[in-house]
Amino acid sequence: MTESGYVNNVLTDVTAFAPATVANVGIGFDILGHTVDAVGDRVRLRSIDEPVVRIRSISGVAGDLPVEPQRNTAGRAVQAMHATLGLKFGFELDIDKGIPLASGLGGSAASAVAAVVAANALLPEPVSRLQLLKFAMQGEIVASGSAHVDNIAPCLFGGLVLTVGIDHPRVKQIPVPASLRCVLAHPHMFLGTREARAILKTDVTRSDFVWQTANLAGFISGCYSNDLEMIRESFDDVIIEPQRQSLIPGFMDVKQAALAAGALGCSISGAGPTVFAWAQVQHAEAVRGAMIAAFAAHGLQSDHWISAIENNGARVVKA
Ligand code: HSE
Repeated sequence: MTESGYVNNVLTDVTAFAPATVANVGIGFDILGHTVDAVGDRVRLRSIDEPVVRIRSISGVAGDLPVEPQRNTAGRAVQAMHATLGLKFGFELDIDKGIPLASGLGGSAASAVAAVVAANALLPEPVSRLQLLKFAMQGEIVASGSAHVDNIAPCLFGGLVLTVGIDHPRVKQIPVPASLRCVLAHPHMFLGTREARAILKTDVTRSDFVWQTANLAGFISGCYSNDLEMIRESFDDVIIEPQRQSLIPGFMDVKQAALAAGALGCSISGAGPTVFAWAQVQHAEAVRGAMIAAFAAHGLQSDHWISAIENNGARVVKA
């Protein structure tokens, strides 16, 4: 093995980075998400002769995850890839978690995506990103019990991403006005995705359906047409947020503080407890300060980030 990750001109050792993601973006439950490039997971993969997938180490901010590949999101995703492609060699993984566990920042998706992106770089014939999406989905099922793609698709493709379909997903990157930033506050508490999904009602009223449909359409059209007022007006999840907000202490105060400080909108990142806001760049610092102070008033310290919403998806960072 050399420092460069090549043996006899064949790449055998590679590391990929996958960013955190804000799933749902408020109004697009299970179908919309965007990247947060400021934080993410790294997965190192080495080719091994034995045709198996194994996890050598897990480090970083969430080190006590399962090392059995079938119980680990990254391991399961690479196993799915390995089995589908019928590979004659195997992979050994080192997972370095930068995304806190159960934070609503797409940590399980990021590990799965980083792993399949790294594995792809080690294949003699790499597969398409859409195929990688399907392998990574197998990892997401391990973590949350359901095959939603609103973390995985943006994590893999980058930026604000709409995904239509599960069995044959169609992925669309949506432009975001360049003046906007995402502000995130992650309160120091755990909230499991399974738990936050289990409380959701299975039906919606007709009026909520109409509001949510209008808001999703308005939000996306506002993004395409650079219409900040349309984005502001339609940044309102009338179905999921009202059901989940009681899981996050102080959520309404955090949201109101963000809006009062100039945010266009504010909602729950994925299944929570992270809360995110979109704001014009000149308001982003004030919005961040207001959100942190509001959580602190409820006894919660928080990590916080301000991130542009750029088309940077998962990528190989070291070969
Ligand atoms: N769309 C999912 C949810 C994301 O809100 O339950 C969770 O990762």
